[in-house]
Amino acid sequence: MCGIVGYAGTSLLAGDDAAASGASARPLEVALGGLKRLEYRGYDSAGVALVGPGSPTAAFAKKAGKLENLVAAVAEQPLPDATAAVGHTRWATHGGPTDVNAHPHLADEGRLAVIHNGIIENFSELRGSLERDGVSFLSDTDTEVAAQLLAREYRTAGDLTAAMAATARQLEGTFTLLAVHADAPETVVGARHDSPLVVGLGEGENFLGSDVAAFVAHTKEALELAQDQIVTITPTSVEVSDFAGNPAEGKRFTVDWDAAAAEKGGFDSFMDKEIHDQPHAVADTLLGRTDSSGRIILDNLRIDESVLRSVDKIIVIACGTAAYAGHVAKYAIEHWCRIPVEVELAHEFRYRDPIVDERTLVVAISQSGETMDTLMAVRHAREQGAKVLAIVNTNGSTIPRESDAVLYTHAGPEIAVASTKAFLAQITAAYILGLYLAQLRGNKFPDEVAQLFDELRDMSRKVQTVIERGEYVRATARSMQAADKVLFLGRHVGYPVAMEGALKLKELAYIHAEGFAAGELKHGPIALIDEGQPVFVVVPSPRGRDQLHSKVVSNIQEIRARGARTLVIAEDGDDVVRQYADEIFWIPQAPSLLQPLLAVVPLQIFAMALAGAKGLDVDQPRNLAKSVTVE
Ligand code: F6R
Repeated sequence: MCGIVGYAGTSLLAGDDAAASGASARPLEVALGGLKRLEYRGYDSAGVALVGPGSPTAAFAKKAGKLENLVAAVAEQPLPDATAAVGHTRWATHGGPTDVNAHPHLADEGRLAVIHNGIIENFSELRGSLERDGVSFLSDTDTEVAAQLLAREYRTAGDLTAAMAATARQLEGTFTLLAVHADAPETVVGARHDSPLVVGLGEGENFLGSDVAAFVAHTKEALELAQDQIVTITPTSVEVSDFAGNPAEGKRFTVDWDAAAAEKGGFDSFMDKEIHDQPHAVADTLLGRTDSSGRIILDNLRIDESVLRSVDKIIVIACGTAAYAGHVAKYAIEHWCRIPVEVELAHEFRYRDPIVDERTLVVAISQSGETMDTLMAVRHAREQGAKVLAIVNTNGSTIPRESDAVLYTHAGPEIAVASTKAFLAQITAAYILGLYLAQLRGNKFPDEVAQLFDELRDMSRKVQTVIERGEYVRATARSMQAADKVLFLGRHVGYPVAMEGALKLKELAYIHAEGFAAGELKHGPIALIDEGQPVFVVVPSPRGRDQLHSKVVSNIQEIRARGARTLVIAEDGDDVVRQYADEIFWIPQAPSLLQPLLAVVPLQIFAMALAGAKGLDVDQPRNLAKSVTVE
């Protein structure tokens, strides 16, 4: 939540048209470009602040609403050339989404500009203390309190880095703060505590960002910061220290995302592009996971094999879509490895005193690697002695850093706020983990693991087939704009798919939608069915086991008898279900446990197309933000 960009670079070093002062338009360009890529983190307001040699104060502009409002304001009233900049895109917490509450917040007579991500919990106490010192506030935000506190510390310390450290020591809550000061026109100082911040390393310029998307168009060399660190960047230096001022080091890494992956690439929306990226997300997540003999190998798995052999329980913690990926993981891992798996929303896990010990493996699933609820649950699990394995998409993020092991998904940057390709990549990673554990613990023979892995490899091609059949789904969605309530049913692995289908429709099209376990229907929800009620049903493979298919077909008949309009996701060749479906969306045949990778795709396309037909912004749905970095 909230996107943050920082930049320091002079035209003299970067080789732009050299102005005698070194100032140029690049800091503003980099800040606005970074904000464009980070806008998915919040779009209640946006702002920038710039400093350059000889500027008496920080120049700034800020506007409520989406980034385009800021861009228009800057076009109308140009900002001066500069050597350092900060930029912010906001998801409002303290104070409504107004121009005044937008970041940056200024202090020290306009010479200091501060932006912030997070929540400062002791802000009212600090505000009281500052007011007693004669400070008056313009906004309702906790950020302005941090700005004024930093100004007070700066007056004492006379150095922005030392002042930032002194400020950070007094703040409670979560924060990433960035500051520029007119006295230090080539410097940006940042502090992080439980909120994300990464450094981009350029030539004659350096960058800061909430995540690497902020600067990947300029550099792929990056530095991961630990918690409670201060970073000071200039065009030629990056210095890291702890809050006590002791020198520290960041961890270097190279971003493996292609800058073009963060562009729409000819699609109408990031969501459409990301749905089309899904075959690659699955294939890339599987790449390099086996050795020449076909055995699964997991790099970065810093947990001893003997520990993994002795695990007697797995708990998956995650939120939202990532939690639904966790539900799929439960079915697969329990079946393949015979280890009990619980799935729990991270925010519930953290506060219910869960039973966890050193024989528990906690699997944290997160696209962003920054979700605060999941991060807090990771910390709690480790405090209880559990090993934590993270399934994460974003390099340089906090959750993998704080976990014992990481299995990266390779979905590439996911910019649309609602998750699509990350979900498929998370499920793929969970399958890899399940097969790895089955291999390690001897639950499956090597040839069985190899065969399942081959079937998994084949899923990328099948996902592509489902996408190619998308036009019928889109046409159906366009005809359903008037729907005000849609239900989704599934059994077994189809149940999390139903819940994910409902979530996509809620968040994209603002339609009330619920996902149910099909067997639960007759225990209450069937009362919701009346004439014409649209109900999506995920039908298991007719070739599967345990009569699952016939049970779901019976459920379809039950709701049809009560007037439901049935929209069915079924496997090619399923002639039985055909006769009970009002609409049918065919997916290729696949092993039962792997079917979610296919069955969810028509539901994603449906939600996107219906939202599009209603004229809604599918990339930035109202009230949401990607990467929920507050609890
Ligand atoms: C829904 C969605 C959210 C996220 C959830 C967890 O489309 O995107 O439900 O899945 O906020 O986010 P990550 O995976 O970043 O931890």
